[in-house]
Amino acid sequence: MKGIVFTEFLEMVESRFGLEIADHIIENSELESGGVYTAVGIYDFSEMLSLLGNLSKEVEIPVNDLIYEYGNYFFYVLTKHHPDIFNYYKDPISLLASVEDHIHVHVRKIYPGAELPSFEVLEKTDEKIVMLYSSERGMYRFAQALMEKTFEHYHRNPQIEIEKIKENGTLVRFTAVINE
Ligand code: HEM
Repeated sequence: MKGIVFTEFLEMVESRFGLEIADHIIENSELESGGVYTAVGIYDFSEMLSLLGNLSKEVEIPVNDLIYEYGNYFFYVLTKHHPDIFNYYKDPISLLASVEDHIHVHVRKIYPGAELPSFEVLEKTDEKIVMLYSSERGMYRFAQALMEKTFEHYHRNPQIEIEKIKENGTLVRFTAVINE
C-alpha cells in the first residue's frame, strides 16, 4: 500500500480526533515501519488494518465506517492532487467507467507499487452504471465513498445499491442510478 494512503490517513485522524489519539494508535499498533511513513514509500496493508483496528477501539466507531470516512477525506486529496482528471471527465459515470482502464492505469505509473482494486463495468448508460469491485483488501466502503463523492462533485445525486457478493467485502456489486 502506498505511503500517501498512510500519511493522509494519519492527517485525517489528527484533524478529526486529535494528535493524542493519532499518537496513541501508532504506539498501540505493531508497525514494522515504526509509524514513520513517506508519501512515496510502500508499506504493508496489515499496518493499515492495525491502525484502523486500534482507532476503532479508541473512538468506538466500526472499522468499516472509519474506512468510509477515510474514503470521503481521500476524495478531497484526489481532487487537490489531480484536478486535471476531474476537468477531463465531464460527467461522473464516464469518470467511474474509466477508473479501471484509464485512471488506475495512470496511478500505477505515477505511484509504482500501488495496490489497486479491479472494477469491471457490467452495464453503462447515461443514467446508470453497474460495477463489480474486486480486491483482496475488501475496501468496498472506501469505493462507496469515492463513488458518492464523484457524483457529488458533478452535482448529481444518484441512488446507489451495494450488494456484497462475498460476505467479507472482497467482491461487491455497485449499481448507481441517476433518477433526477
Ligand atoms: C483522481 C482519480 C483517482 C486517483 C488518482 C486514484 C488513486 C488511488 C491510489 C493512489 C490508491 C492507493 C493505492 C495503494 O494503496 O497502493 C487508490 C486506491 C483505491 N482506489 Fe483509486 N484513485 C482515483 C479514483 C478512484 C475512484 C473514482 C474510485 C471508485 C470507484 C477508486 C477506488 C479505489 C479503491 C476502492 C481503492 C482502495 C484499494 C482497494 O480497494 O484495493 N479510485 N486509488
